[in-house]
Amino acid sequence: MVFTLFNLVEAIWLIIPAYAVNGLIPLVGLKGRKNHPIDGGRMFRGKPILGPGKTWEGLLFGCFIGILIASVEMLAFPYLPFDISPVALTIVPMYPLLGLMLGLGAVVGDMVGSFLKRRIGLPRGAIAPLLDQEDFLLGSLLFASFLITIKIDWVILLVIITPIIHLVASVIGFKMRVKKEPW
Ligand code: CTP
Ligand code: MG
Repeated sequence: MVFTLFNLVEAIWLIIPAYAVNGLIPLVGLKGRKNHPIDGGRMFRGKPILGPGKTWEGLLFGCFIGILIASVEMLAFPYLPFDISPVALTIVPMYPLLGLMLGLGAVVGDMVGSFLKRRIGLPRGAIAPLLDQEDFLLGSLLFASFLITIKIDWVILLVIITPIIHLVASVIGFKMRVKKEPW
């Protein structure tokens, strides 16, 4: 059974650093700051490789946030109320290197998404339903899988709930004028 509260708790615990990265990364581009595009403005067959929305500042920030949030989870781990769960939960013990992989994976996955968007001719910031929401998630899970065992149930659940959570968070970010588009 994929849709259990236990799977949901386990999956969300694991992916919190990636969600934080994806949610906070627009902060590096606030107020039109001149950041450094990873593709250096270079083109591939007449279109930007990644576009100006993928910057080194964003990549470093993603790594930092991943490590930071994973460290907070690591410190919180001993205080989790495991005893309220009727079944033994597979709560992944967090540590900074795992946070780095979750954060870096989220940024790299997001870059792959942008690369694909540019190939089909979508400009920076254009909406790409599902791709925009699954790219960072799959990148993050892939990178984390080099360090830990990831249950397929978590992947299925996260693939389903992430677009919903992403949309809600993006609308909030838009209303707070952190994001330029409400998606
Ligand atoms: N950002 C960044 N570096 C990254 C990822 C994101 O600087 N590696 C910042 C940019 O300011 C970007 C914003 O976060 O505009 C929002 O990220 P995202 O929605 O992923 O980028 P878009 O601007 O929508 O560009 P794309 O169409 O390529 O997804
Ligand atoms: Mg976008």
